[in-house]
Amino acid sequence: MGWTVRETTDGVDWDEAAELVERAPLGTRDPRDLRAAFEASAHVCFVYGEGRLLGLGRALSDGVWQGGIYDVCVLPEAQGAGVGRAVVSALLSRMEGLTVILFASPGKEPFYERLGFRRMKTGMGRFARYEERREQGYVE
Ligand SMILES: CC(C)(COP(=O)(O)OP(=O)(O)OC[C@H]1O[C@@H](n2cnc3c(N)ncnc32)[C@H](O)[C@@H]1OP(=O)(O)O)[C@@H](O)C(=O)NCCC(=O)NCCS
Repeated sequence: MGWTVRETTDGVDWDEAAELVERAPLGTRDPRDLRAAFEASAHVCFVYGEGRLLGLGRALSDGVWQGGIYDVCVLPEAQGAGVGRAVVSALLSRMEGLTVILFASPGKEPFYERLGFRRMKTGMGRFARYEERREQGYVE
């Protein structure tokens, strides 16, 4: 499968992006919220193949020390072919030398370990929708 990696929000079909997030699955997002979040992010990545969106992700960054990666997801039928790796690698390449954190979906930790991430001993999060996140297995 040939891909095109795009690092801009220009021309993104946000309904298609929200559908991808839902099908991945990573949750239900309002396309307008998704657009606002991606447009406010420091770095974005969209992978296209065969004329459609296959994967996406975004990063927050201060450009000096700290970055965070969010909303990495791939269409179910495109998973396992390297698209997720391409998304994370593109985001990391924009944050060379920075400490980059993320919280993996439960069970997806090995995917990030292959990309050089290590489990944090003191990581803590103040979660919006805490009960929901606890039930999903993100937090104690
Ligand atoms: C997690 C996700 C982004 C991975 O994307 P992907 O395109 O399927 O992954 P890739 O094909 O690029 O995999 C890269 C490597 O990670 C491995 N990998 C991928 N998912 C894995 C998993 N769940 N467990 C263990 N290894 C995994 C692959 O085997 C591959 O290994 P290799 O380097 O030995 O070839 C994708 O499965 C997805 O969208 N899942 C649903 C949404 C989600 O949970 N996102 C994560 C939010 S934190």
